[in-house]
Parts: sequence; structure tokens; C-alpha cells
Amino acid sequence: MTLSDPVTWPDAVPVLRDGDVTLRAHRPDDARAVVEQCTDALSVRWTTVPSPYDLGMARGWIHDVAPAGWREGSEHLFAIESTHPDGERRFSGSLSLRDMGSRRAEIAFGAHPAIRGKGVMTTAVTLLLEHGFDTLGLETVIWYANVGNVGSRRVAWKTGFTFGGTLHMWLDHRGERTDAWVATRHRDDPAGPAGPWELPA
Ligand SMILES: CC(C)(COP(=O)(O)OP(=O)(O)OC[C@H]1O[C@@H](n2cnc3c(N)ncnc32)[C@H](O)[C@@H]1OP(=O)(O)O)[C@@H](O)C(=O)NCCC(=O)NCCS
Repeated sequence: MTLSDPVTWPDAVPVLRDGDVTLRAHRPDDARAVVEQCTDALSVRWTTVPSPYDLGMARGWIHDVAPAGWREGSEHLFAIESTHPDGERRFSGSLSLRDMGSRRAEIAFGAHPAIRGKGVMTTAVTLLLEHGFDTLGLETVIWYANVGNVGSRRVAWKTGFTFGGTLHMWLDHRGERTDAWVATRHRDDPAGPAGPWELPA
């Protein structure tokens, strides 16, 4: 199986697990939590999620956009499920691998505010990378973030990405071209940090 092979959504979407963290297909009852995530300040600041964002948009995203990526072989988009501080397991964020051709993919991720800072995203990214390399035959995964998105950079660092510098005016961010941090993880790279934690000057 490769990233570009069509997958029947949601039945053939794999379920990936590590401890409390599960990656699975999105479900209609995730929609409210998707709105909570997409309207939170960090998501608006660092992602291109539409703003304002409402329940109808979340339902459309789950019902139309997520399945299309699987069907067309362009993007494998997973929901993350984990235990929230109230003790209930539910939607905890989303992450995806976008096909870039020639065994390459771009990773994207965002966490629900209620579970941030507990290592859930680090576990989810590690699971998705393992799946991408071992099952989908990927060789290299690329990560981009707007310069200054330290939380995202920290997740990339913890999951084995090697940083490649800053790309001047590369990202399309809410109508502006912004500078991007870039990093790659190759299938043969170790899963943990490739070097000491540091931020570019
Ligand atoms: C980026 C994001 C997914 C990280 O989620 P998270 O739940 O904090 O991730 P984890 O808990 O797995 O690990 C994050 C690590 O970064 C650290 N971190 C998070 N935000 C940080 C910040 N602003 N500055 C410094 N460190 C930060 C955490 O402390 C943790 O490190 P540690 O385990 O060594 O303490 C989350 O902040 C988010 O959803 N942001 C908005 C969307 C976004 O920016 N997506 C990425 C677009 S490129």
C-alpha cells in the first residue's frame, strides 16, 4: 500500500495505537471538539484554518474533505483520540500525511487545547511516521511551520526531524507570504531527537 492508493473511508482507514493515544478516521461526533480546536487562539495564530469557524464547517470537513483525501490518495487525515483531563476518551486533534510524490510526504498536525502539553501529539506523530515508513513505503517526510511556532518545532525535534533552516517568504498564511522553518525526517533516521534542542537566532 502507498499513500496514493485509494482507501475506502472510513472502513479501510487503519487504526493505530500506542498506549492511551489512538489514530482513527474522524467521526461525525468529533465535530464540536473540532470547532473548539479550530477557534482556539494558537490554531488561529499558527494554522490556516478558516476564521471564523463554525459547526457546519467542521461537519463539512469531516464529511467531505477528510474522506476525499483518502479516496483520491492525496492526504491521509487521522483524528487523534486520547483521555481528556475529565477522564473521558475523545477527539484530541488531527494530523495528516500529504502525498508529495516519489515516496515523500508533508506532515501537518494540530492538538485540541484540552490535551496540549501532555505528549499526546509527540506520540501521535511518532505513530504516524512509523506507519508512513513501514506500511506506506515513504522515504522522507517534510515539516514546515511559521517561524516562531516553537511548540510545533518542539514536536518535530522530539520525533526525529533534522532542521534545514529558514525559508524566506515560503508559506501562504492568511493572504501573506511568511517565513518558514523546515525540517525533514528520513526513514533511516532515529525516532528521537537528531541533535540538541536549539532555536535559530
Ligand atoms: C504544536 C502543538 C500541536 C503541540 O502540541 P502539544 O500537545 O504541546 O505537544 P506535546 O505535548 O506532544 O509536546 C510538545 C512539546 O513542546 C513543548 N511546547 C509546546 N508549546 C511550546 C511553546 N510555545 N514553547 C516551548 N515549548 C513548547 C511542550 O512542553 C512539549 O515539550 P516537553 O515534552 O519536552 O515538555 C500544539 O501547540 C498546537 O496544536 N498548536 C496549534 C496548531 C499548530 O501550531 N500546529 C502546527 C502547525 S505547523
